Amino acid sequence: MQIIEQLQADQTAAYGHQDPNANVCFFTTVDAAGSPQVRTLVLRHIGETTITLFINTSSPKWQQLLQQPRCQALLWYPSLQIQYRLSGTAAALASDAIQDNWHKRPLRAKILDYVYDHAAPQSKRMASRAALLEQFQVVSQRVASADLKPSAAAIGLSVQLDQIERLDLSQNDLPHERTVFERSDGGWTAHVLVP
Ligand SMILES: Cc1cc2nc3c(=O)[nH]c(=O)nc-3n(C[C@H](O)[C@H](O)[C@H](O)COP(=O)(O)O)c2cc1C
Repeated sequence: MQIIEQLQADQTAAYGHQDPNANVCFFTTVDAAGSPQVRTLVLRHIGETTITLFINTSSPKWQQLLQQPRCQALLWYPSLQIQYRLSGTAAALASDAIQDNWHKRPLRAKILDYVYDHAAPQSKRMASRAALLEQFQVVSQRVASADLKPSAAAIGLSVQLDQIERLDLSQNDLPHERTVFERSDGGWTAHVLVP
């Protein structure tokens, strides 16, 4: 089985076990000062050589990716005792890729996208929670929910993967099974690692 098929099969198995991490990844960027920045994101899709995430371009992570598109997504499926480390290069997807999905977002998330566009970018420091809720109320009262339109700042992010590391802890008395896969034109090449 190819590593991508293995990854997709493991995610499907994690869903089957109601694994709380089945639909997310822990996504790391590097900021302008060279410090790592990690946060949880929903892992929207695992493709042949890419993963897809949804973000808002008002957030610091987008500026970080423009400066340094190299990034890493960590997956940990406790139900399977398997960890993946996915390394690659991020780029924005064509904007129509997110339009359908935007309409399926909860109302709260759509309103927040308006707040990011018109009042305060994502991750901005506010004076208080009350100040944030005031901005939220302003948008809620100004725009009827049926009239909310996809924000151009809500984008899909595609990460072109070039390295995948898989660590399988479920080996009983034997050492854990750890393998790194590197992608070239010829496909993925596997190397066993000391766990
Ligand atoms: C379970 C979970 C799922 C999340 N999914 C997303 C997501 O898909 N997209 C997103 O932009 N933020 C998501 N977040 C919020 C991010 O972790 C983060 O707080 C936010 O994107 C701001 O990140 P930044 O300041 O590093 O740019 C999620 C958080 C949690 C706990």
